[in-house]
Amino acid sequence: MERFVRGLPKTELHIHIEGTLEARMMFDLARRNGVALPYGSVEEVEAAYAFADLQSFLDIYYQSAAVLRTEEDFADLMSAYLARAVDDGVRHAEVFFDPQTHTERGVDIGTVIRGFVSAQDDAAPDITSTLILCFLRHLPAEAAVDTLEAARPHLRHIQGVGLDSGEKGNPPELFAEPYRLAVEAGLIPVAHAGEEGPAGYIRSALDVLGARRVDHGVRAWDDPELVERLARERVPLTMCPLSNQRLQVFPDLGLHPLKRFMDAGVLVTVNSDDPAYFGGYVGDNYLAIAEALELTRADMVRLARNSVEASFLPEDRKATLQDEISAYVRSHPASL
Ligand code: ADE
Ligand code: ZN
Repeated sequence: MERFVRGLPKTELHIHIEGTLEARMMFDLARRNGVALPYGSVEEVEAAYAFADLQSFLDIYYQSAAVLRTEEDFADLMSAYLARAVDDGVRHAEVFFDPQTHTERGVDIGTVIRGFVSAQDDAAPDITSTLILCFLRHLPAEAAVDTLEAARPHLRHIQGVGLDSGEKGNPPELFAEPYRLAVEAGLIPVAHAGEEGPAGYIRSALDVLGARRVDHGVRAWDDPELVERLARERVPLTMCPLSNQRLQVFPDLGLHPLKRFMDAGVLVTVNSDDPAYFGGYVGDNYLAIAEALELTRADMVRLARNSVEASFLPEDRKATLQDEISAYVRSHPASL
């Protein structure tokens, strides 16, 4: 199963580039930029990654991002992620970034975006990728509007707009105005909803923000009518099993609802969220959920096909990738 999953062509649709900062690179960048870290060794870092919930992770995640300062740093981060993704069979990635995490520290948004884009250009065509600009929902909507304005000169490099950070108490409807402006500027809306927050946040992500995909969305399971709607309207959910386990959303992966959503006809995808913090990249997420829920090879193929369908790729590229999946499956007959 492992070799089959790693080679299976797929896309990745829920990956925070800041969440790919491995401890090793964090130390290297800290040295390069003269930034002090609260850790003395990789072992100390790993010991700190025992998270009680989303907020306890975010506190460390935003602190670690302080080592990223120059265009070269952002390029190195993106290059390292894209190389790892290629090893996991990823042909296309739609990558979240959090400009406010950097602009709040005085880093220019152009520095961030130019760094990412140079690495993305270098990695193509082995892997294609786009950027999704996320608003931090623990900050006010006015700050989101300011972020969009700062990003305007760079919008040709940005495909979508997203919403992330602490969910509880920060419902999607607070961000109606920045989303309206972002969509007017041509960005495709997605949003984190129903990770720790209630199913109602998923409804407002759809109805108020116009989200075309819901990131996580696991709490939809509490609302059977919503599950039916997600299936009927083919709204993709970008799920992240190892993230849910490490942030105590489903500490026992055997209780994760991913397969129940699949059986209900929802367009579920598997992704890695913040792999440097949660113990695995996208292939590891496929394998972990397969083991926990006793998923079959056919389920893995379904998830890979869903990842293509749920992407924002043009229809002709989607068709090419679906053909690639078919050819891969044909050339890897199941051993009985
Ligand atoms: N930012 C990075 N990872 C996140 C997650 N899992 N939920 C919300 N915001 C995030
Ligand atoms: Zn996320």
